[in-house]
Amino acid sequence: MSTCNCKTWLKLTGAALAVIGVIGAMIGYDRGFREYPQPDWVTTTPEMRFKYGSIGAEFDAGIPYWIFYVLPRVFPEKFTQDGKVVPGGYAALGVPWEMGRELPVGFTKKTIGFPRVANNCAVCHTTTYRTSPDSNPVFVVGGPAHTTNVQGFFRLLIDCAKDPRFNADILMAEINRVTALDWIDKALYRFFVIPITRQRLLEREAQFAWIYRKDFPDWGRGRDDAMNLTKYFMIKAPMDDTFGPTDMPSVWNLKKYVWDKGHRMNYAGDSHDATSVIMDSALGLLGAPPKHKEDFVGQVKWLHDYLSELPPPKYPFPINEAKAATGKPLFDAHCASCHRSEKTGTPLPLAEVGTDRGRLDSWNKGAAVKANQVVKEMGLQRRGLVEEDLKGYVAAFLDGIWLKAPYLHNGSVPTLRDLLEPAAKRPKVFWRGYDVYDPVKVGFVSDGPEAQRVGTRLDTGSKAGGNQGHEFGTGLTAVEKEALLEYLKTL
Ligand code: HEC
Ligand code: HEC
Repeated sequence: MSTCNCKTWLKLTGAALAVIGVIGAMIGYDRGFREYPQPDWVTTTPEMRFKYGSIGAEFDAGIPYWIFYVLPRVFPEKFTQDGKVVPGGYAALGVPWEMGRELPVGFTKKTIGFPRVANNCAVCHTTTYRTSPDSNPVFVVGGPAHTTNVQGFFRLLIDCAKDPRFNADILMAEINRVTALDWIDKALYRFFVIPITRQRLLEREAQFAWIYRKDFPDWGRGRDDAMNLTKYFMIKAPMDDTFGPTDMPSVWNLKKYVWDKGHRMNYAGDSHDATSVIMDSALGLLGAPPKHKEDFVGQVKWLHDYLSELPPPKYPFPINEAKAATGKPLFDAHCASCHRSEKTGTPLPLAEVGTDRGRLDSWNKGAAVKANQVVKEMGLQRRGLVEEDLKGYVAAFLDGIWLKAPYLHNGSVPTLRDLLEPAAKRPKVFWRGYDVYDPVKVGFVSDGPEAQRVGTRLDTGSKAGGNQGHEFGTGLTAVEKEALLEYLKTL
């Protein structure tokens, strides 16, 4: 063989390898990273977009669709509720789920190379209620997701990844039962997608260590320890002993918050304005800096505009107008000084109201300074978190208050009627997350066999679960309380 021939061979082999490399890279890009828009039905209406539209979380926080699909088949015993196994896959997490939809509300599906599932705001900010045990649920966009077990979802994914059955052989066997992937996707799933997903979920365990603490109670349905999430996730603060799960808030009618009136957002007034809260929440969902910054800022603006104008829902049962009219002066005399005044929307000193301080202590000025720095370094503009010591909880706006049960920031009082009793007479233990409405006490049914079967137990003696304080109106007569209650239904 002459040297010349050798060189030709080398050149040819080199060229062939380069071609294979380019094709490989193209396939790799196409199957691993190429972005496809979501189908049109997702954006037909603003409500649909809020419920199912991607905000870009599929890049870093997405779960590959087929893994998401087979988890309930491989790990049925991990889909639990208050320690009991509940059949029905993700429904065990109490997520609102519309009839005929493939995924629950707040779950988005988008193809980036391969289909992935992630979350948007609606998983915590869309709710359901039923007017009787045999009626279908009514979905309210922007309402507090009082049935959703967020902590259960976080734990579920991590627990699956920690299980030795989370491996390519077992997951591929299940995936092959439900879909026919071609050989490229099969190889991708086996050698990359499954091991990388497992790795990413295991990494969450360290960040989410406090959700496994035995000395803390479970958040239960409809609650979220949001500021600790921000602390451990966004600024990677070391774990402390604070604990402050709150009720999911409503996010309708955000235009009521006016920044230059001194209004503050989040329960302890931690954030300056809606754009800041929305941006920070979206970053939390993405789990990483946005891939496309302009697109991200556009999503935040859309959410802001949509939620600003979204009206609060009307009370769905009859209201006795005459009775409500006698309740209004009682509201004016006992409640309006905080709930319809220049104080409304601003934080009041904790001592004035006396509710549980767990949530207040879960966030502080130092954390705000650091979190603002992190967001600034991403090149994002916002007024941001309030860099001050926090003094107490915000005097809440009461629009749509009927659907915000359970009440107080930590959801420790099941109904409005119970809130009008002194703390010592409020229920000490009740069940959260059952969606049948109680128009007599104004709140959700929170005890009895069905509430206990479906809901999670809240013990008001547990850490950060205290139902003390806010004893306003508790000295009214029974007749006056009924009138005030009737009036509150009209808000
Ligand atoms: C995992 C659940 C969860 C997700 C997802 C979530 N939020 Fe929230 N959101 C909360 C909780 C809990 C609070 C209250 C936090 C606190 O003050 O302790 C909150 C607070 C807010 C507030 C402030 C409400 C007020 O009246 O002060 C707004 C606005 C808001 N969220 C919008 C959004 C938007 C928009 C998204 C999506 C980009 C989003 N949230 C994603 C749980 C969530
Ligand atoms: C001194 C000020 C003040 C007065 C007076 C007052 N409130 Fe409040 N209210 C607050 C504050 C502050 C909060 C938030 C407390 C918390 O969540 O821990 C609150 C929370 C609430 C909530 C819970 C909101 C939610 O989303 O869970 C309701 C309902 C409520 N108040 C109704 C009333 C009614 C009815 C009256 C009159 C009988 C009244 N308040 C009088 C300051 C006041």
